[in-house]
Amino acid sequence: MQHKITSFEQYTETYKRSIEQPEQFWMEIADSFEWRQTWDKVLDWNFKEPNVKWFLNGKLNITENCIDRHLESNGDKAAIIWESNDANEPNRTLTYNELHAEVCRFSNVLQNNGIEKGDRVCLYMPMIPELAIAVLACARVGAIHSVVFAGFSSQSLSDRINDSECKVLVTADGLYRGNKTVGLKEICDEALQSAPSIHKVIVYKRTGQDINMQLGRDVWWHSEMTKAAKEFEAVEMDSEDPLFILYTSGSTGKPKGVVHSCAGYMVYTYYTFLNVFQYEADDVFWCTADIGWITGHSYIVYGPLLNGATTVMFEGIPTYPDAGRFGATSDKLQVTKFYTAPTAIRSLMASGLDFVTPYKLDSLKVIGSVGEPINEEAWFWYHDHIGKEKCPVVDTWWQTETGGILISPIAFVTPTKPTFATLPLPGVQPVLVDAQGVELKENNVEGLLCMKFPWPGIIRTTYGDHERCRQAYFGTFDNLYFTGDGCRRDEDGYYRIIGRVDDVMNVSGHRLGTAEVENAINEHPFVIESAVVGYPHEIKGQGIYAFVIVDKQSIENGLVDTDPMQAEGAGVDNSLHLLNIAAFENEVRNIVSKIISPIAKPDKIQIVSGLPKTRSGKIMRRILRKIAERDVSNLGDITTLLDPGVVDEIKKGAGL
Ligand code: WT7
Repeated sequence: MQHKITSFEQYTETYKRSIEQPEQFWMEIADSFEWRQTWDKVLDWNFKEPNVKWFLNGKLNITENCIDRHLESNGDKAAIIWESNDANEPNRTLTYNELHAEVCRFSNVLQNNGIEKGDRVCLYMPMIPELAIAVLACARVGAIHSVVFAGFSSQSLSDRINDSECKVLVTADGLYRGNKTVGLKEICDEALQSAPSIHKVIVYKRTGQDINMQLGRDVWWHSEMTKAAKEFEAVEMDSEDPLFILYTSGSTGKPKGVVHSCAGYMVYTYYTFLNVFQYEADDVFWCTADIGWITGHSYIVYGPLLNGATTVMFEGIPTYPDAGRFGATSDKLQVTKFYTAPTAIRSLMASGLDFVTPYKLDSLKVIGSVGEPINEEAWFWYHDHIGKEKCPVVDTWWQTETGGILISPIAFVTPTKPTFATLPLPGVQPVLVDAQGVELKENNVEGLLCMKFPWPGIIRTTYGDHERCRQAYFGTFDNLYFTGDGCRRDEDGYYRIIGRVDDVMNVSGHRLGTAEVENAINEHPFVIESAVVGYPHEIKGQGIYAFVIVDKQSIENGLVDTDPMQAEGAGVDNSLHLLNIAAFENEVRNIVSKIISPIAKPDKIQIVSGLPKTRSGKIMRRILRKIAERDVSNLGDITTLLDPGVVDEIKKGAGL
């Protein structure tokens, strides 16, 4: 833990050195790992192509650093503590020794099922230790894991499998989430009808529900594991070999496969975990995310294990069996560091203190927030009622593309300020620019958040389409990585993230592209066109508001009615129309759910006869956003619209 920053003075000094001599700085951190062969150059980069390489020609396997190197001194320490969805089910603990054996066994299973270095393996699994085991086994055999969040639909799953041509799919019969079960294997079967690259499916038995096993293609996790040896010599990887792909939404309809590579990601997640959370050897670290998101990759699996920490994996949801689940679990497991999302905090807040006060929460030392801007009220509530006014709140800002936390307080070190992610971590060089890309150098400014120098965890490419990576992140401004976020820097140089400035929404901390949701809505046979925007939502942070143009013919047939108010005014029985509208909305939500995921369902649907478009046909989302926010005091210039009249109509339809 020689790399731990323990005072603000030391932070300032370390930060300065990391900027003046970045290569020297990161090299000293990289030195603490096990390498099969050390690098011969620390960094090679340009943001033009982009081309970023760290620790060039270094050879290693990340799992030797996550597991093997801890065995001698800490083999019997708990690596993973698993908390079931069912609060009464006993915890499962895997020591580092046990984790080693399981990962080796599953590495053999992967190899026995035809997986070699460089192959892609898709993991579509419940939050059970086997997911972490599968992740690590992929890394150990040199396969590239692509974890797909198990809340995604079969179509999302097959799209992701196809994009990177995964050879093997690892899944379970089903999963438990609150009082529901989800038939994962069934969803996989549907996905596999259009995912020809998969030749083997490995199925873990979790729920015991009836499933179909296709002879020759589907095998059981358990029987494969019993056949497999518990030793597996880790495959040697180059520093820049891809470690994983993780799909995330962008401003086009098609999710991007963000690629991270072995060494840089390892060094960066190790270092940020250690510092932001001020890791101590006896910590019980609980990050409530799902491994299907980057937060889970970096701060449930890799960051904690690289540090030899004990990491908690939680299968369930914060409100099951009731909203006291976090408190109860934290007390039971004596959690010391807790990391969750503002949306979860706000939903607890809404449930009331009756679900908090029964718990001691006295083991907690640091509490973290991630995924979306945390509003002031939620920040204070978290600080006062979960942290009992004694735990620093670390509001950590980062992205799937950044691999790890970039801007955040260091617990006990950086003075916090509610709603501020505060200061950049060592090695991170944020800049704010205006729309023309001119740097805003002074404090007390608001601008677009960019990075002007690479850190080891930065995205390397988008799978199979490097040009897309360039355009999305490096093409907007010369020599800068553009985050897509708007940001304010205050008089103390503290950063406060405002939110996305592109066509990306953040719903309950989940990233969704407006185009993705629109494409799904447009699949409804009555829908001609749609436009989707995010709007402020009390619990979710952002909700989804869909403006939808429907086919005239279906309106005439009485299937949907665009103007129920008028019908009411005319004194006719409009219950039929309302029913039709409700039914239509329901269908739209189901389609989105089916094509993307239930998390992408629009909260509000408004039927409109036209959309505000420029003469070149571009939808002016700015106007729709204002209407969705119910703030139409200043809509800006609408004279450039093809049909300015449509704005009044939409306003009226929204009751404004
Ligand atoms: C976007 C990235 C980072 C892991 C989870 C989300 C927003 C993230 C914060 C924060 C304000 C935040 C940004 C960012 N975001 N953390 N602490 N404060 N906004 O990863 O799905 O890649 O989304 O989430 O808008 O760009 P992601």
